[in-house]
Amino acid sequence: MKQTIRVTINGRLYEEEVEPRILLAHFLRETIGLTGTHVGCVIGECGACSILLDGKVVKSCLHFAVQADGREITTIEGLAKDGELNPVQEAFVKNYAFQCGYCTPGMVMTSHALLQKNPNPTEDEIRKALAGNLCMCTGYVQIVDAVKDAAKGMKNG
Ligand code: FES
Ligand code: FES
Repeated sequence: MKQTIRVTINGRLYEEEVEPRILLAHFLRETIGLTGTHVGCVIGECGACSILLDGKVVKSCLHFAVQADGREITTIEGLAKDGELNPVQEAFVKNYAFQCGYCTPGMVMTSHALLQKNPNPTEDEIRKALAGNLCMCTGYVQIVDAVKDAAKGMKNG
């Protein structure tokens, strides 16, 4: 039987009827239409589906949509403000930190969450934060460089 949930996504309140077993990742993509959250492994290994739930980074394939009832979500679509990319997004572009882009939304969300908590992370802290996000094609050097660059930019800006 469907359940009604109310969830704030990127600052907008949605009230939707959902099947209790629909995954949060699928809810965001298929019900809400926010396809920036990617789905890879669906077993919590790749991190492509990473989003913020009440400000904390989570893998949305490991949650049911009903678990988001009454909570706040930020997806990759919610990071840019007034047409301006978020500093992490900008740094990914500047550092060529993606190729196919499949992992990128998850990488950016995880990096953004890290910098919110720790604006001046060491390389080790960046690598640890990103350990649950896999990239098949770029290599991690550029990704780590992008996060360092975003941290620098946030400090100077
Ligand atoms: S799709 Fe969620 S971790 Fe891979
Ligand atoms: S850019 Fe292709 S998987 Fe990371």
